[in-house]
Amino acid sequence: MATNRTFTMIKPDAVKAGHTGAILAQINKAGFKIIAMKLTHLTPSVAGKFYAVHAERPFYGELVEFMSSGPIVAAILEKDNAVADFRKLIGATNPADAEAGTIRALYATSIGENAVHGADSDENAAIEGSFHFSADQMVG
Ligand code: CMP
Repeated sequence: MATNRTFTMIKPDAVKAGHTGAILAQINKAGFKIIAMKLTHLTPSVAGKFYAVHAERPFYGELVEFMSSGPIVAAILEKDNAVADFRKLIGATNPADAEAGTIRALYATSIGENAVHGADSDENAAIEGSFHFSADQMVG
């Protein structure tokens, strides 16, 4: 995957609360192009594999349970400087620290239920994007 791509998930809290449309509008307005997208409900096993990098963290069980608690929207986004610009758009992991106007400041309720995920590096964007999508499901 090219380095101008990032990977995101709109998490179960935000989907459940009906924020999917507003979040996608904010993502588009910030200049990101959607290359691939799906609504899906992760099983605990798939959520556990996706977050395997956090397996040793104390919050891993809670994270896997939450991420498999309802539907999510997974997407690959394209823009110059995608990874860094998207992390700026979503704000800090803990919504209490997120800058006003960021997606997490607007929609997240806690550090665990924080509305959206954004890849933290080009390498992880590629790994996470291909975890959810095959090449023929990506446009452009
Ligand atoms: P995300 O960007 O999806 O990557 C890992 C996730 O772990 C993170 O967002 C948070 O939702 C979650 N997380 C990080 N720290 C904590 C914590 N202290 N307690 C619960 N969940 C956490």
